Amino acid sequence: MLPCGVWFGGRAVSNVGIACVATAPEDRGKGIAPALMAACLREMARRGAAVSTLFPTTQPLYRGAGWEQAGVIHTWKIASRDFVFRDRALEVRLAGKRDAATLGKLHDLAASRTSGLLQRTPWFWKRVLSTEDEPRETHIALRGGRPEGFVVFALREAQVGHRFELGVRDFVATTPAAAQRLLTVVSDQRSMCEFISGFGSPSDLLHLLPGEQRMETVRTKRWMMRIVDVKRAFEQRGWPAGLEAEADFDIDDSVLPANSGKWRLRVKNGRGHAGRGGAGRIRISVRGLSPLYSGFMGPDELRLAGLLEAPDADLPAVRALFAGPSPYTTDGF
Ligand SMILES: CC(C)(COP(=O)(O)OP(=O)(O)OC[C@H]1O[C@@H](n2cnc3c(N)ncnc32)[C@H](O)[C@@H]1OP(=O)(O)O)[C@@H](O)C(=O)NCCC(=O)NCCS
Repeated sequence: MLPCGVWFGGRAVSNVGIACVATAPEDRGKGIAPALMAACLREMARRGAAVSTLFPTTQPLYRGAGWEQAGVIHTWKIASRDFVFRDRALEVRLAGKRDAATLGKLHDLAASRTSGLLQRTPWFWKRVLSTEDEPRETHIALRGGRPEGFVVFALREAQVGHRFELGVRDFVATTPAAAQRLLTVVSDQRSMCEFISGFGSPSDLLHLLPGEQRMETVRTKRWMMRIVDVKRAFEQRGWPAGLEAEADFDIDDSVLPANSGKWRLRVKNGRGHAGRGGAGRIRISVRGLSPLYSGFMGPDELRLAGLLEAPDADLPAVRALFAGPSPYTTDGF
């Protein structure tokens, strides 16, 4: 269990990442993993988590415990000749150990404008900045000494040909000038490498800014999320500013019954309040709540999938409440 935050609506929600689930080979097929997941959920709830995310190798185990698809992790690749940027307006410098807090602040600011990126703990940062088998470089873009973004990458020996591939591990820009400068830092490596690859979302600016649509998708995987505590999840996240709306849920959660029953969500001034009661017109399992909450699926799709039941009259408010950027992450575990 990996505690961290996950950004929704401009606020970090308390999350527990789940990794490395396994049952010893001699004990498989006896219901141990489902019992383990249920025990993990009870412990997370006790420790104050709002949600939990994971990367499944098999879905039924996690669906049975209430996780559902809630966003993507997307790997792209492009020929370096198609990734040409020449904007050197900002200064750049290599980052060192003393820059840890700066990188954290920049990542939090950029992530707060997305859905699904993690609020990283030192454990996550260590995996981003360098690994034992892959030394990486971090370059910071600055305006008059003030940091506005950074990029982390590694040169890897190419599987074919004699040149390298550039693997972009993290691309974080908080201003348009920083985006252009950091794209140029990456582009400036192109004499050495045939291809550039990285993580992001099919709808991010790295797919928008190159001149031609030559980005290839290497892989898009869907991560799963579980609402651990309905009240915390609704109240910790941010909501669309300027929207005043409410929605009456009737939630079914057989693993954590404290979530079950009727909840009224009220949203005003970007903050949510969840209280017991209401008409319960939007009937949803805790599993269906994850893709709705993250903005991965709207209520219309979830109704078609059989994960939500609601009268048509309630859908406009639900659509408006959960509208937001397409959820993705760059941290797999
Ligand atoms: C997947 C795993 C954790 C299941 O553990 P288990 O204690 O044997 O669990 P159970 O036999 O009670 O099965 C629970 C559910 O897991 C899923 N599952 C079990 N074995 C599976 C397999 N070989 N392939 C895919 N799914 C499997 C099934 O959906 C099963 O539910 P069902 O029987 O109702 O369909 C275990 O097979 C394992 O350790 N596998 C190797 C590691 C791994 O893949 N971990 C998951 C990482 S995300």
